Amino acid sequence: MNRHLLTIDDLGVDGLHQVLDLTDRFVEVSQRPIPKVPALRGKTVATLFFEDSTRTRVSFETAARRLSADTMAFAPRGSSLSKGESLRDTALTLGAMGPDCVVVRHSAAGAAHQLARWVDAAVINAGDGWHAHPTQALLDAYTIRQALGSLAGARITIVGDIKHSRVARSNIAAFGALGARVTVVGPPTLMPPAIDTWNVDVSHDLDTALATSDVVYLLRVQQERQAEALLPSLREYSDRWGLTEARAARLPPGAVIMHPGPMNRGVEIADSVADSVASLVTRQVANGVAVRMAVLFLLLAAPEQAADPAEIPTPDLEAADA
Ligand code: CP
Repeated sequence: MNRHLLTIDDLGVDGLHQVLDLTDRFVEVSQRPIPKVPALRGKTVATLFFEDSTRTRVSFETAARRLSADTMAFAPRGSSLSKGESLRDTALTLGAMGPDCVVVRHSAAGAAHQLARWVDAAVINAGDGWHAHPTQALLDAYTIRQALGSLAGARITIVGDIKHSRVARSNIAAFGALGARVTVVGPPTLMPPAIDTWNVDVSHDLDTALATSDVVYLLRVQQERQAEALLPSLREYSDRWGLTEARAARLPPGAVIMHPGPMNRGVEIADSVADSVASLVTRQVANGVAVRMAVLFLLLAAPEQAADPAEIPTPDLEAADA
């Protein structure tokens, strides 16, 4: 594994399998009465979230604590950003406190790459603008593998605002590398101009795509990222692209429904569909903690323990002192 996790390309196909295989071990740890192991004792994980987050921030903090790492949390509100401190000076200041890993989310594409140049720590991209959200893709790939057995040959339909979605970009890279066939569906105004070069099929007919999908992955309508009026009204969006109960009934038996959260219930997904047995939304969140434990372990412990970097070292999974 590379020193940082900035995009899915940092892993390659072998690295993707390595993370998913190791995640099985941390799912087991997460199911214990005391879900804590000493694998990262003495390490410090800093979280720098310049954009709002519930799932990603809390699951990284939980993952670090379950591995017995210390955590250092930076929140922009109440920080010296309000006095004009730059991203670089903020990064250098936190870097000077000696974290082993910095998990960063920022509204600017490329912010995580910049940070990796400024700090000595391993950097994990927790979402940068429209660009990438690699740990979301890892937890989604893991959840699909758990549900279907494998991504190889799986037919995955991603629906909605592809243009503004870092989740779509990272998922397309991960799902494709693992052998899935990806179709993107959505309004033409919300497709990126270069979509023809993305190694996906493009459709504007959701009902037809659903009939041959093993997985339907709904993206959040991100009104905050749309400078232009690219969307019809939310009601029109829901009528044409929302996964209603009637549309979900077109899915083949055994198909599963996913969403990265937070969901706009009643817009891209109907309430009853979000809460149906086919929905994996809460399982995605639970798996997110185990996937992030695997990523933190591989970045922070594996390089010290492995004679051969291609080999997955065995984490110490004995119970830690609570
Ligand atoms: N899926 C996701 O990134 O959710 P948060 O914005 O809550 O972290």
